[in-house]
Amino acid sequence: MRKLSEGAEARVYLAKMFGSNVVVKVRHAKAYRIMELDENLRRTRTRREAKAMVRASEAGVRVPELFALGEFSIYMEKVTGSLLKDARQRGRYGEIGRMLAKMHGANVIHGDFTPANIMITPSGPCVIDFGLSEISESAEGKAIDLLLMKRSIGDRDYRTLAEAYGSGYAGSKQIFSRLADIEKRGRYQIRTLM
Ligand SMILES: Nc1ncnc2c1ncn2[C@@H]1O[C@H](COP(=O)(O)OP(=O)(O)O)[C@@H](O)[C@H]1O
Ligand SMILES: [Mg+2]
Repeated sequence: MRKLSEGAEARVYLAKMFGSNVVVKVRHAKAYRIMELDENLRRTRTRREAKAMVRASEAGVRVPELFALGEFSIYMEKVTGSLLKDARQRGRYGEIGRMLAKMHGANVIHGDFTPANIMITPSGPCVIDFGLSEISESAEGKAIDLLLMKRSIGDRDYRTLAEAYGSGYAGSKQIFSRLADIEKRGRYQIRTLM
């Protein structure tokens, strides 16, 4: 297995299984945590991530296909393409706004909705990394999904995204107004990782 990435919580590997490329995302042990707590956290987060992927997919959002689930690992389709943050061609913000609308309509909060977690594939954008996702109706969580993206892209791209999000999600008005509140507060809280 070749390592593709090493993050704070998980390592991502590329493996060959049954002749196909498979991405394996493994939540590694954290030595500073009490072992039992650590295992519980990794198990819970692995399940939560897989659940959010499935739910987003059921809502019509392109995500890597889930192949199998281990206790601390997720086996999924290897998506071909480049991350939005590296992609040259960027005129995708309408589609991305529609994807976020579908996710929020299904109460999937991504939790880390940035150009580093969207891949641009030949068949359109694909959302990856549901590692901080939760299933929730929280307006705050949904607004933060928008806010993270807003802070990462230009004004024009954000306007395109927001317009598509607004027409795709019936609850968007409340989310935009929460977003304005958060921006007024000047700070926001993201669930911090233990
Ligand atoms: N299904 C996938 N197909 C192709 N590349 C992937 C896939 N999942 C993850 N990657 C690659 O691995 C990197 C890290 O994966 P990610 O799920 O974002 O983990 P982390 O939580 O560490 O950010 C991504 O930025 C991407 O380059
Ligand atoms: Mg990531």
